[in-house]
Amino acid sequence: MANVVVVGAQWGDEGKGKIVDWLSERADVIARFQGGHNAGHTLVIDGETYKLNALPSGVVRGGKLSVIGNGVVLDPWHLVNEIASIREQGVDISPETLMIAENTPLILPIHGELDRAREEAASKGTKIGTTGRGIGPAYEDKVGRRSIRVADLSDDATLEARVDRALQHHDPLRRGLGIDPVDRDALIAKLKEIAPQILPYAAPVWKVLSEKRKSGQRILFEGAQGALLDIDFGTYPFVTSSNVIAGQAATGVGMGPGSVDYVLGIVKAYTTRVGEGPFPTELDDDDGLRLGTRGHEFGTVTGRKRRCGWFDAALVRQTCATSGVNGISLTKLDVLDGFETLKICVGYELDGKRLDYLPTAADQQARCVPVYEEMPGWSESTEGARSWAELPANAIKYVRRVEELIDCPVALLSTSPERDDTILVTDPFAD
Ligand code: IMP
Repeated sequence: MANVVVVGAQWGDEGKGKIVDWLSERADVIARFQGGHNAGHTLVIDGETYKLNALPSGVVRGGKLSVIGNGVVLDPWHLVNEIASIREQGVDISPETLMIAENTPLILPIHGELDRAREEAASKGTKIGTTGRGIGPAYEDKVGRRSIRVADLSDDATLEARVDRALQHHDPLRRGLGIDPVDRDALIAKLKEIAPQILPYAAPVWKVLSEKRKSGQRILFEGAQGALLDIDFGTYPFVTSSNVIAGQAATGVGMGPGSVDYVLGIVKAYTTRVGEGPFPTELDDDDGLRLGTRGHEFGTVTGRKRRCGWFDAALVRQTCATSGVNGISLTKLDVLDGFETLKICVGYELDGKRLDYLPTAADQQARCVPVYEEMPGWSESTEGARSWAELPANAIKYVRRVEELIDCPVALLSTSPERDDTILVTDPFAD
């Protein structure tokens, strides 16, 4: 029985939400395995728009189990608000439909404060451009063995001891940044207040998923962000603080490496990035403006304008390798409608040498000059196409060239935010 991982193969915002929603119909369980409420997934279903940050995209589909895995960092106050607003849109969320791993670390208000204070204090060129939601500091506490985890909410004495341990680290750090020490009692009171709203969802997710897998249920692993923001394989240090690549799916819920049968990489037909960091194909001209305007490229979480550029096949070839992508879903092809000529980056020139991948050293990344291939565009609209026959010949040529350059086939083609505007080539869930 196939289990599928969906990962972003660029810098995030590739349109994963729609694809996860589309695939979730074929799945029994939808699990988030990394990231936090820095993610912004927009789903449009029958004209109704749902905006999700921490909740798995599967929650809007009835009869599915949604899971927040241990690889996630969870802001319990944000989650409670998100559940309330999604419920207002008529979606049923209960401990029968949502489970949170007991070993999930919490994001506390002090994490957001620290995240924002560091960004403000950072000098030019060192800012990461984070979402300010405390993701980095929360992961730091996890690996520093001072997190407060979901299970700690169930016992007052443990909770207080955990808070004390965390503050031993945070208070001196805050002093250094000119922030007041943490009000210990107020933080503990806040945690005790939220605990009864979180604990009903807490579960040994690893066990539940192991049983579900044995009984033949299908699991869809929902990635957030994109592989180029991966803490190890992204454009470090301008990355997020979790492993984003597909290997994390198993660790992030407590399953073995053999639990993943198919990796679907979500790839936008051009490139965007929010936040700071290298971006070889970035465009500062009218073409870049046009991509941003036509593609509505504004961050769902921060509202920031996304940086836009041509499709970078060298980078996607790289992320398809690091995530073991079996097939891609190409999204937002319609944004390229009407361009006379399209450019695709096929590699880089560095110090007179040709490279077919982005090197790791930051100074080399900054000096890489993209090598482009040009292709003729198309004047017809591809928006809403539901079969290959509805696509202009040049659009098909563009898609075929992308497949060749990234060395990975197209499994799905998404032609608008509506879920039915999708061309299926290979069903990732097929046995
Ligand atoms: P953080 O995850 O808030 O620490 O931000 C680190 C970097 O990841 C910044 O460049 C953010 O803009 C970027 N980032 C975080 N989440 C997303 C996302 O869901 N989509 C796109 N970029 C993201």
